[in-house]
Amino acid sequence: MMKEEITYHTPVLLMPSVDAMNIRPDGTYVDVTFGGGGHSREILSRLEDGGRLLSFDQDEDAERNIVNNPHFTFVRSNFRYLHNFLRYHGIEKVDAILADLGVSSHHFDDSERGFSFRFDGALDMRMNKRAGLTAADIVNTCEEGKLADIFYLYGELKNSRKLASVIVKARATQRIATIGEFLEIVKPLFDREREKKELAKVFQALRIEVNQEMEALKEMLYAATKALKPGGRLVVITYHSLEDRIVKNIMKTGNVEGKAEKDFFGNVLTPFRLVNNKVIVPDKEEIERNPRSRSAKLRIAEKVMNNQ
Ligand SMILES: C[S@@+](CC[C@H](N)C(=O)[O-])C[C@H]1O[C@@H](n2cnc3c(N)ncnc32)[C@H](O)[C@@H]1O
Repeated sequence: MMKEEITYHTPVLLMPSVDAMNIRPDGTYVDVTFGGGGHSREILSRLEDGGRLLSFDQDEDAERNIVNNPHFTFVRSNFRYLHNFLRYHGIEKVDAILADLGVSSHHFDDSERGFSFRFDGALDMRMNKRAGLTAADIVNTCEEGKLADIFYLYGELKNSRKLASVIVKARATQRIATIGEFLEIVKPLFDREREKKELAKVFQALRIEVNQEMEALKEMLYAATKALKPGGRLVVITYHSLEDRIVKNIMKTGNVEGKAEKDFFGNVLTPFRLVNNKVIVPDKEEIERNPRSRSAKLRIAEKVMNNQ
């Protein structure tokens, strides 16, 4: 029987982000996070003869949202390979790149993907179902110190060491394979009142590690910096402080660590000009309509140098 599909994903900050791309009808654009295709469809509605949109998603489920449009090309790949795929498609420079980071609602709503602690099922969390380690592989094989680092760095969890230690103890007797089994082990560590918030952090940390999100983001941002034409726009929507810091750094300094290069006179050499100094966030109405937009932050930068 076909599973009933609820809305795949409701696009966040749709108009402000697509407006920020300064779309010209005959320009070349990239959406590195296609998902439900909400942003891509809005971009396509602004394209005419000569216009082109390349959209990436590493999740094969996103392919069901592909649009039939002569200006559109879908790339089922991790966006860390942005440079290679632009070359493959004969594109040297682009007018704007949009990234709407993280997972889609579909990931949280599909009980079989293992992203949500609302459901039981395999502890998976891979956005690309064909590659890499699952969350179960990580909790069962990672060395205790590394596991603690994952919870501390990617979940900002204060009790990361304790978490790692109870997991390592539990897995010594039996492999942790399902979300239910994992919850039984970690739930006793959290107060009832804060349980949901803390579990969300634990799951976020594992998801970031499973999908190597920080590494992929950094590689994509460097490739995007190179691919943009002077005057081209980099438009990024982030959902947590770790990815937001990396995006802010590259936009301010051209470097993901935020270490600015300076010229002989001490002037910062950055490939970008910030378009919005203050981040753009969803208004009350959007948050009420789509509570998952609550943590979104939109950052926009314009390429000023051609030699980076
Ligand atoms: C927040 S959703 C994007 C939603 C989309 N803007 C829309 O309006 O429907 C993020 C999407 O990016 C994909 N994604 C996340 N990281 C990726 C990566 N490194 N490479 C390719 N796709 C990625 C996810 O699979 C997910 O479908």
